[in-house]
Amino acid sequence: MSTPRDEWPQNRQCWRKKPDYINKLYNRNNDSNYDVAGGQKLGSSVCKPKFRPYDICFNGKRNHGSIGATLRGENKESRIEIQKEWTKGSVLRPGMVLLKNFISHDEQVEIVKVCRELGVGLGGFYQPGYENGAKLRLKMMCLGMDWDPQTYKYGNKRVFDGSTPPSIPNHFSKLVTRAIQEAQSLTEKEYGACNVEDVLPSMTPDICIVNFYTENGKLGLHQDRDESRESLQKGLPVVSFSIGDSADFLYGDKRSVEEAKRVMLESGDVLIFGGESRHVFHGVPSVFPNSAPKELLKDSGLSPGRLNLTFRQY
Ligand code: SIN
Ligand code: MN
Repeated sequence: MSTPRDEWPQNRQCWRKKPDYINKLYNRNNDSNYDVAGGQKLGSSVCKPKFRPYDICFNGKRNHGSIGATLRGENKESRIEIQKEWTKGSVLRPGMVLLKNFISHDEQVEIVKVCRELGVGLGGFYQPGYENGAKLRLKMMCLGMDWDPQTYKYGNKRVFDGSTPPSIPNHFSKLVTRAIQEAQSLTEKEYGACNVEDVLPSMTPDICIVNFYTENGKLGLHQDRDESRESLQKGLPVVSFSIGDSADFLYGDKRSVEEAKRVMLESGDVLIFGGESRHVFHGVPSVFPNSAPKELLKDSGLSPGRLNLTFRQY
């Protein structure tokens, strides 16, 4: 029997030729006024501002010399880093579970590669802004459905450019399912005889918000409460993947930085919050520059920063 990780596509650097399945992930129905490079289509009668999606990778122009040299010097250590097995998970509070180093090196590389390919296409990474004009301190791309920071609503198209969000890749969803199962089994151990679905329900993601934080990136304390009333009432969890640089993550019952608890999220960690923790206030006050695993940067081409994917069920 093959393990779920066997289903993961092979490790490739992110600027190489676009695999066919990437094309299938785009909901291409010619409804956008933009070509894949972000330019306006010739002949389009609708005039919209030029928009070029943000590239989270070095796009092949990166000078790998220094990283290669570093890795040659640290070769043994890097291999240990790559082979590090997933070892621990902890229940932070009812419904909130942290799985340390749950996503393998190859899976992280693949996630970066896929996010990069999707991110430079239709519906790709942009810097979102709130209605008052303030910009979020991150780049964002939505998969499945678009979340609009101007209205705090989900939709099938991105309002500012009319693009349709790419679909969530199947192997991302499978990893989400595996993470929830692991978190549920930890929950059972922690709370003994209970119906684990009452504490941490299962969910099938149809939304993924992908955020990329550069070294000054941050996200203020907030609740995730724009999904459907049913999803929120059931406490269907948010599942968050962290890749690249580490970051501080705050969480608590109030919008108060002083009273919030703090945990560090590192590359490969998965954080899940559902059940009675579904409305927890949370935020990212800071990213730690140059803290990403060197081997990840080398194999994926990820630019300095932190990639975060949050999966939800509408
Ligand atoms: C979010 O709350 O939407 C993102 C959290 C994170 O970046 O870890
Ligand atoms: Mn959030």
